[in-house]
Amino acid sequence: MIQTVRGTRDILPEDMALWHRIEDVAREAFRRYGFSEIRTPIFEKTELFSRGVGEASDIVNKEMYTFIDRGREDREGESLTLRPENTASVVRSYIQHKMFADKSPGEVTKLYYAGPMFRRERPQAGRYRQFYQIGAEVLGASDDPAIEAESIEMLDWFLKELKIANTRLMINSVGEPAMRVEYLEKLREALKPHLADLCEDCNQRYETNALRVFDCKNEKCRSIIADMPTINDYLDQASREHFEQFRAHLDARGVEYIVNPRMVRGLDYYTRTAFEILGSDGLGAQNTLVGGGRYDKLSETLGGPPAKGFGFAFGLDRMVLSLSESEAAALRLADSPDVYIVFMGSTARSKSFLIARDLRLAGLSVLVEFEERKMKKAMAQASRSRCRYALIIGDDEVASERYGLKNLSTGEQESLGIGEIIGRLKIQQ
Ligand code: HAM
Repeated sequence: MIQTVRGTRDILPEDMALWHRIEDVAREAFRRYGFSEIRTPIFEKTELFSRGVGEASDIVNKEMYTFIDRGREDREGESLTLRPENTASVVRSYIQHKMFADKSPGEVTKLYYAGPMFRRERPQAGRYRQFYQIGAEVLGASDDPAIEAESIEMLDWFLKELKIANTRLMINSVGEPAMRVEYLEKLREALKPHLADLCEDCNQRYETNALRVFDCKNEKCRSIIADMPTINDYLDQASREHFEQFRAHLDARGVEYIVNPRMVRGLDYYTRTAFEILGSDGLGAQNTLVGGGRYDKLSETLGGPPAKGFGFAFGLDRMVLSLSESEAAALRLADSPDVYIVFMGSTARSKSFLIARDLRLAGLSVLVEFEERKMKKAMAQASRSRCRYALIIGDDEVASERYGLKNLSTGEQESLGIGEIIGRLKIQQ
């Protein structure tokens, strides 16, 4: 039997109500905050990510699904990659379509996206090789920290609307590239005497991008890294002020946060503000729900004009896992069809198709039997269908035009005309 590839999975119908709810609330948040949707291709030139996300990042180094396009083995530049994230693609599109062209000074372009991303990570609960992100980017000339605070306020509303509790917002400033060079030197100096005790990955990181040591999950490494100088100690004056203003904006909105000087994020494009929202402990090791930050140099890195940017993405898979059991149960229930039609006899069968059509025209969600079954079996099938009601049609019902409407959770049954049935079910929808 052929099965799904490791790290990928089917999202089955019984979970769809949860996915749809998160997507709907996200779209509503984006509508309220003035974001427009953009859809970029699922594969792009490899160079977009190697330049955008950064050669030294784990994503580019180890996790990309890259292939040479068929028939182009002889040509350079035809290496393609399934997108591991969408910020680089959105900025590429912003540049390609000159979205900056007709903007007045300070005016921003607000875009959002939803779709699958691909990373060849070690699969575990909450971590997949094909996973889904919903994200948003604010692009333009402005580096006002109010932009960051507004997006975080939007996320705050979104999480509350989904009743996802016990989240923690972690913030940091990773400064400007120039000061980062100075800091990295200091960090490497401080790491050097410990190299023999650090894991192989950290030794590699020491060579390629020492900042990444803060991502290490190895206990021994973590205890060494806890004593290392952090990036905030080296922040340039402008980044320091930016961070203070950003915090003041969050305070003014009553948004709680924790400053985590060791949070550096796994992508290289960030400048100044970086943040993550962690979910409740129930999620296990993969508890980062949202990640984002400012990336004021990305447009230029990708060959575009100077343009600043800030954005975030959340993992839909992890957001679904974060919904409370009671919320998930309520969503599943609300998603179930309204009525299941059971018939007895061929006259009733023909009638049941017409009644099904009328109920559907009235906006109800209806399942209708095609096969005649014994009453008991048909009712068992109706219960399994998760419908809220069964509508029972036999010869007597056809003659009297009054049908048996059974509430499948309480077992109560009434004999009603079609108009009454529609009225009853519509109220409950
Ligand atoms: P990221 O932190 O790599 O950031 O991913 C954002 C979120 O995607 C994570 O917090 C997590 O919820 C989810 N995620 C990432 N990898 C996986 C995986 N293997 N399985 C399940 N979920 C996963 C970015 O991708 C940036 N583009 C975010 C951003 C937008 N920064 C600025 N603008």
